Amino acid sequence: MLNDSDHPRHSAPCHRRQFLTRMGALAGAAAILPGLGGCETAEMHTAPPKKGATLNFDVAVDPFKPLAAVGGFVAADIEGTAVLLVRTAAKEVLAFSRACPHAFLDMAAAPASKYDVAKGVWVCGWHISEFKADGSAVAGPASPSGKLDKFAVTFDGAKGKVTL
Ligand code: FES
Repeated sequence: MLNDSDHPRHSAPCHRRQFLTRMGALAGAAAILPGLGGCETAEMHTAPPKKGATLNFDVAVDPFKPLAAVGGFVAADIEGTAVLLVRTAAKEVLAFSRACPHAFLDMAAAPASKYDVAKGVWVCGWHISEFKADGSAVAGPASPSGKLDKFAVTFDGAKGKVTL
């Protein structure tokens, strides 16, 4: 059982950002965009983005470039919903809630979070739980019944366009 005192860098929720907070790239390397400091455990939202809330972007354009390669990921806030976008294959981008079902921490704020291309799993870097593409937990402290919330997303690999 995880206690509050066990949470690394537990801090007060920060104000919502309209947009990006953190992004990762190949092999799990990650970069923190300006303005993330102090928001490691931002208040999580597990509800899907509001109806009509959409995000359209090109993976060739900053700040979405990490999604141009398999294994890259980007964190975004869409109308108050904390979303994690992960490039899992040449023709696939998945969208999850950033709230890990283990301890409801923001997965994008954990330095060790990554998409493990070889295993085909998303790794929550806080306590190293692993999740399959359907969001189900397959390893780590997250309960096997724990599941990442998934959001509908389309990816046009030829054009590099993502619509959420
Ligand atoms: S918060 Fe513990 S594994 Fe994700």
